[in-house]
Amino acid sequence: MNQRIAVYPGSFDPPTMGHLDIIRRAAALYDTLYVAVLINTNKQELFSLEERVALLEQELAAFPNIKVSSFRGLLVDYCKQHEIGVIIRGLRAVSDYEYEMQIAQMNRSLSADIETVFLMTNTKYSFLSSSIVKEVVRFGGDVSDVVPPIVAQKLSEKMGG
Ligand code: PNS
Repeated sequence: MNQRIAVYPGSFDPPTMGHLDIIRRAAALYDTLYVAVLINTNKQELFSLEERVALLEQELAAFPNIKVSSFRGLLVDYCKQHEIGVIIRGLRAVSDYEYEMQIAQMNRSLSADIETVFLMTNTKYSFLSSSIVKEVVRFGGDVSDVVPPIVAQKLSEKMGG
């Protein structure tokens, strides 16, 4: 496992400014950063996998050390395939702690040589989540401050706006 290669995994449905803030900061810390979109067939998704990958690719095109891809199954298996030694997660409020602890400890017991590193979310985005964004959009609210412009545009297309 290579400790200079990291992954930032998530559902990204849709990607928010909070995600992008963590991605930019993680890309500055590691040689290579994989942004890996979870393929989750059970979850009710607004954006298809292809749409989420395309949005992230467009948004991150200027970063030569970021690779956008997707994965199914266990995150640690994806890490092993790509020699990824570090999993990045963002911590927003205290409420994230328990869930993130569960994931980190499970990943550690599955693969002890992969380290989870937490970055504290920019306080501007500490209460931002993809679910909240979807809820606001569903009722016609404006989310242009909290998602990148290309995501805001896609959201309004989807909602028929
Ligand atoms: O953006 P999310 O939904 O909070 O991301 C959760 C994610 C993708 C990091 C987590 O669900 C995950 O890694 N799923 C893959 C399955 C897995 O490896 N599970 C074991 C750790 S709980």
